[in-house]
Amino acid sequence: MKRTKIVDIFDPALIGSEVSVKGWVRTRRGNKYVQFVALNDGSTVKNLQVVFDMNRFTDEQLKPVTTGSSIHVTGKLVESQGKGQTCEIQADTLEIYGTADPNEYPLQKKGHTLEFLREKAHLRPRTNTFGAILRIRSALAFAIHKFFNEKGFFYLNTPLITASDCEGAGAMFQVTTLPLNNLPKTDNGQIDYSKDFFGKPTALTVSGQLEGELGATALGAIYTFGPTFRAENSNTPRHLSEFWMIEPEMAFYDISDNMDLAEEFIKYCVNYALDNCKDDIDFLAEHFDKELIDRLRFVVNHDFVRLTYTEGVKILEESGRKFEFPVHWGTDLQSEHERYLVEEHFKRPVILTDYPKEIKAFYMKQNEDGKTVRAMDVLFPKIGEIIGGSEREADFDKLSKRINELDIPMKDMWWYLDTRRFGTVPHSGFGLGFERLVLFVTGMTNIRDVIPFPRTPNNAEF
Ligand code: 4AD
Ligand code: MG
Repeated sequence: MKRTKIVDIFDPALIGSEVSVKGWVRTRRGNKYVQFVALNDGSTVKNLQVVFDMNRFTDEQLKPVTTGSSIHVTGKLVESQGKGQTCEIQADTLEIYGTADPNEYPLQKKGHTLEFLREKAHLRPRTNTFGAILRIRSALAFAIHKFFNEKGFFYLNTPLITASDCEGAGAMFQVTTLPLNNLPKTDNGQIDYSKDFFGKPTALTVSGQLEGELGATALGAIYTFGPTFRAENSNTPRHLSEFWMIEPEMAFYDISDNMDLAEEFIKYCVNYALDNCKDDIDFLAEHFDKELIDRLRFVVNHDFVRLTYTEGVKILEESGRKFEFPVHWGTDLQSEHERYLVEEHFKRPVILTDYPKEIKAFYMKQNEDGKTVRAMDVLFPKIGEIIGGSEREADFDKLSKRINELDIPMKDMWWYLDTRRFGTVPHSGFGLGFERLVLFVTGMTNIRDVIPFPRTPNNAEF
């Protein structure tokens, strides 16, 4: 008999038919007449109740059916008398695939803390909570490809190993095959990278943007969706050392087209999750965050506020609020400032633009005032910065001058500068941190809980 996934079993048309189901046991309870097993196969947050009539099974047969064990059951699907479920299966046959020793299987009871489950990241996908999160994450990844595909953007794969530091923050993981305990040296005592695998220093990318610009100035509109790596020592609930980023890049877009796209994009993704992940979102709302669904609907139904950094800083200064980090024109905004603007002042998502050039990357379009650049950050409730982007400096001279001011080695940037030498065009783009989007949609509060196997300082287990 062909296996039916549990997500498909709650179809009323199946009532009365013989079915075959396979999955992992969540719980078993009952008495000497009847035993009830809650079975989950990962296809849905809902468990299927399997009923064992103990006139037909022996205690010995049911003994290995403990929490975490894997089984195959066939039987008749019937309407359920119990509350909380529409149907259940009356077991005819039972096959045990694998046992899970109750003294050793760590996920015995419901209600483990998220901290405990982080230590068990190899097994936590088997919990309702992480099942729900991972299914939502998967749905969002699909929504992202769907959105850009519908808009005629091309999916561009940019390299993970690179010799350039896009964000100029110097927070890169070096990639080398040189023997670390016996480094080849040049005559003047420096490390001889000509002996390294690529013949020069390389690192894992912090962003695919620079290559994305090469794609956009050829294909018109592209997006990347891949892992990025940052070796910053930030131990916060919003930073990972390895995270996934979506970076659209568009020729002929100015900053305001860029903002329109960012807003439409996020709303599309949130809507997609609301429409396609109802059971999982309901589960997370019920167990973690009662306001989750209202918050998601609110974002979808309201325009984002758009204002300049200068206006934003003025509001913060005049707020009378004592921030942990004092704020004045020129400082980089901390998440407490971003969240004040979003959650308390405007009470809706905010797009801040035109930041001081000193706190932003070299590639951003310089404004006439000589002080600010055409940057845009999208700020979200509970999250702070969810998107960072800008219109790009399209002028060769202005861009080269900025690269020089910042001491970025020109010789490494020649290929990037060629986009401004040959057929340069106004263009824009942004990066959405995928895990920050998943955080927002799931209502989770720690970014370590929305990626299957988080990488953070001092943590590369699993
Ligand atoms: O603001 P960032 O650093 O911008 C860029 O990398 C640009 N090259 C993007 C572009 O214009 N194409 O990063 C973009 C987004 C942030 O807004 C944030 O959502 C996320 O990436 N992000 C992180 N997410 C998790 N952990 C980290 N350490 C992150 N750093 C940035
Ligand atoms: Mg940023």
